[in-house]
Amino acid sequence: MLVSAKEMLNKARDGKYAVGQFNINNLEWTKAILQTAQENQSPVILGVSEGAGKYMCGYTTVVGMVEGMLKELKITVPVALHLDHGSYDGAKACIAAGFSSIMFDGSHYPIEENIAKTTELVKICEEKGLSLEAEVGAIGGEEDGVVGGGEVADPNECKAIADLGVTMLAAGIGNIHGKYPANWAGLRFDVLEQIKNTVGDMPLVLHGGTGIPEDMIKKAISLGVAKINVNTECQLAFAAATRKYVEAGKDLEGKGFDPRKLLAPGVEAIKTTVKEKMELFGSINKA
Ligand code: 13P
Repeated sequence: MLVSAKEMLNKARDGKYAVGQFNINNLEWTKAILQTAQENQSPVILGVSEGAGKYMCGYTTVVGMVEGMLKELKITVPVALHLDHGSYDGAKACIAAGFSSIMFDGSHYPIEENIAKTTELVKICEEKGLSLEAEVGAIGGEEDGVVGGGEVADPNECKAIADLGVTMLAAGIGNIHGKYPANWAGLRFDVLEQIKNTVGDMPLVLHGGTGIPEDMIKKAISLGVAKINVNTECQLAFAAATRKYVEAGKDLEGKGFDPRKLLAPGVEAIKTTVKEKMELFGSINKA
């Protein structure tokens, strides 16, 4: 059964580790992530972007696929199915489809509108027992030729959103999605500390988990980050393994062209990446 992310994240915050959110794109990825979580007795969050939701034939298809796998694979570790960077309409659609966790990304709205929409979603999610992630954004970018990285949130805005009763808060601290530029300035731990001091106990979420050095991940966890999102790293691992298979001509040997064989190295690469992240985040044996 799918669960809200609330309990697993509160436990992670208290235990000073983080639960990984791994984004899914298709059946193979979903199965690989669920099996890795079960084998390592780790709680896990499956992230679904709106684009990936469309690609997988809509949110009800995603819910049906994941629920079917929980049953068929006899998954007993806590699993949350989470909308990643949801729009207001997307959030409502995922709630209706049976997701157990929602991210409403209102960071591009003026703060008043972000507050109004988040308030409404807090109420709906509370009634249905779902977890809700909110995002606060602000300024960021380049200064004196130094790329500051992603957005840096205003701690007071974080407090305003956290006080609405969301389950977890994603706040920009210089993190960005995808690969980091060579001259990335790193995470703003000073801002993370300020945010932690203003929002108190709320589990914090670190987006853009791909390519953040291990010491920074560990420090972020020590400062209150309880959920870390990873997407690109699994994609890179999958693509590299598939390329290796094809370049070695394996698709031309015997039945190597069978999609179950062709995709197998990529699936193994995802499993390895997910396990490494679970080890780094400290979520193994925390189910
Ligand atoms: P990466 O693609 O950089 O791992 O980020 C994932 C993410 O934050 C999804 O919300």
